[in-house]
Amino acid sequence: MKKILVTGGLGFIGSHVVVELQNSGFEVVIIDDLSNSKIDVLEQITKISNIKPDFYQIDLRDKKAVRSFFNDSTIDGVIHFAAFKAVGESVQKPLDYYENNINALVYLLQEMKNRNIDHFIFSSSCTVYGQADELPITEDAPVKIAESPYGNTKQIGEEIIKDSCKAYNMNAIALRYFNPIGAHKSVKIGELPLSIPQNLIPFITQTAAGIREELAVFGDDYPTPDGTAIRDYIHVVDLAKAHVKALQRLLDKQNKENFEFFNVGTGKGSSVMEIIHSFENVTQQSLNYKIAERRKGDITAAYADTTKANEVLGWKPEETLEEALLSAWKWQQKQS
Ligand code: UD1
Repeated sequence: MKKILVTGGLGFIGSHVVVELQNSGFEVVIIDDLSNSKIDVLEQITKISNIKPDFYQIDLRDKKAVRSFFNDSTIDGVIHFAAFKAVGESVQKPLDYYENNINALVYLLQEMKNRNIDHFIFSSSCTVYGQADELPITEDAPVKIAESPYGNTKQIGEEIIKDSCKAYNMNAIALRYFNPIGAHKSVKIGELPLSIPQNLIPFITQTAAGIREELAVFGDDYPTPDGTAIRDYIHVVDLAKAHVKALQRLLDKQNKENFEFFNVGTGKGSSVMEIIHSFENVTQQSLNYKIAERRKGDITAAYADTTKANEVLGWKPEETLEEALLSAWKWQQKQS
């Protein structure tokens, strides 16, 4: 049985990936510092899979702790999620973002290199493309100058991995996520924003639940059919399955290059207004919203060309937007 380290394994995407890895027969060990997650998630994962993953509360900036973890464990591959991810906060606290997101990555790769541990999956973002000149966005689209320190940590992260793969003969895949949403069908794990949500779907579900008074639609004067911005919203369980495919590709030595990257989205763009209406339809909730100013740093439209992930990884999303929105709502109802 292959043993996979998942850093940030109690977070939103990480927890869903842990479950899919267990479903596919991998043994999982989680490192998480609980800075943006709750220990209860470990119990919930265990309830879903009937397998309790090993868990270590480690801050990956603690180089000695990282070394001592690797001294004591035999790991076949690493999927790395542990990182700060709030775009606005990263503008206020860039050094915190660089220290956490970059140091953690470097320490992990150093330990892997020193022990000849291969197979690394990196959680990257479509934010690396900025406002792409052509839609849908293929992996050939140029990486644009980052809009925020957060986005920059994803770009620098990819560069660090690329250089490491070349120098040390390691193998890695970066998955560039579009907009992950939804929750596991068991409703035992989902997105847990610890403060006011910045992302659209948690803000919508909290507004429908009465926790927030009103959703602000950030701009209705974009050059799109209804004037609101377009994104590619992907069910987190589909996204999680893409990680298992990517890992398997590395373990089977099917990768064509030391470092590969894939877009992970649905290929379909939805506007903010389309999301609001779909949400209202599937949940039968009426949503209190108003049109507001554009949010600084937002782009007009981004959706993925998923041909490469479809053909090379053999991965396709299975869930619909409606299923994703409904699962997010069920999850919200369980919280309040
Ligand atoms: C954001 C980040 C991106 C990150 C991703 C996942 C920015 C600029 N980008 O993407 O780097 O990888 O989250 O965490 O923050 N919206 C509203 N009202 C709201 C919230 C959002 O109208 O209260 C709109 C936004 O303007 C946008 C869409 O909904 O058009 C999606 O927003 P969001 O969920 O924050 O994701 P992104 O901005 O696409």
